[in-house]
Amino acid sequence: MALVTTTKMFKDAYEGGYAIGAFNVNNMEIIQGIVGAAKKLSAPVILQCSKGARDYAGLTYVTKMVDAAVEDTGLPIALHLDHGPDFETCKQCIDGGFTSVMIDGSSLPYEENIAVTSKVVEYAHAHGVVVEGELGTLAGVEDDVVVESGNESYTKPEQVEDFVKRTGVDSLAIAIGTSHGAYKFKPGQKPQLRFDILEEVGRLLPGFPIVLHGASSVMPEYVKMINEFGGEMPDAIGIPEDMLRQAASMAVCKINVDSDLRLALTASIRKHLAENPSHFDPRQYLKPARAAIQEVVEHKITEVLGCAGKA
Ligand code: G3H
Ligand code: 13P
Ligand code: ZN
Repeated sequence: MALVTTTKMFKDAYEGGYAIGAFNVNNMEIIQGIVGAAKKLSAPVILQCSKGARDYAGLTYVTKMVDAAVEDTGLPIALHLDHGPDFETCKQCIDGGFTSVMIDGSSLPYEENIAVTSKVVEYAHAHGVVVEGELGTLAGVEDDVVVESGNESYTKPEQVEDFVKRTGVDSLAIAIGTSHGAYKFKPGQKPQLRFDILEEVGRLLPGFPIVLHGASSVMPEYVKMINEFGGEMPDAIGIPEDMLRQAASMAVCKINVDSDLRLALTASIRKHLAENPSHFDPRQYLKPARAAIQEVVEHKITEVLGCAGKA
């Protein structure tokens, strides 16, 4: 089995009313934790790499480690560029062996978003690679771009048909109230998503895969563990799981999760070092941290995405 694109994954997910998890990867332990869960539950999976992750780990290391995951598991795995900021970054990833790229023109004026997205689609499709575009902006932090809460903008359903037709994208990320990071809602604020927008987009683009970014639940058990072992994240709040399950049963075929992995990894390391202050061998704390990543991904696959047994 070689790396795959997301085409079949999304078709099956759309028809089956479930979603595929797209998990951000930055190092070996994160990759192994994710694919360990996917293998155990026989789930297709998307490993995605941001520009920041690429700068951190290096493109060669990322692609070779993901190749190793494919060889080791035999699973359908797609390697995806998360939030590609420009044509050049997308091109480098396509040339480097990624099977899917996102071009994030969501903060550009509409016509400029169309222009850069079309250019990426043309190059990607000529190389057998699929493309995710984005319409609407999420609050939170993506790479170096910070969108303050209140300055986000929901996707306008009246633009989606025109955008998809003119760009030729294979999937579309939309903004319905999710946001990046661990502070998605203010304390006391009731989490809400604009399911009316998702429904309208689904009606206008029948059978077309929609992507949800900023979809971590900010799992309370890990926030609690971080706070118990010296961290300070009292106000961290995420997207309730029942809302994600509802989105997965609608047109959403790809659900992006990064923050929940970060929280689990950090909580595990904090706990381990607090309980074993004499440890200094990284394997001693990275082994349980990797297991924590696997636990989170198993939970997402079975309780949120519904893609167990779909590999
Ligand atoms: O959407 C952003 C992802 O969580 C990746 O974050 O750019 O810090 O790697 P990063
Ligand atoms: P979270 O910060 O909610 O995990 O979102 C991750 C994401 O959207 C990556 O593109
Ligand atoms: Zn994102």
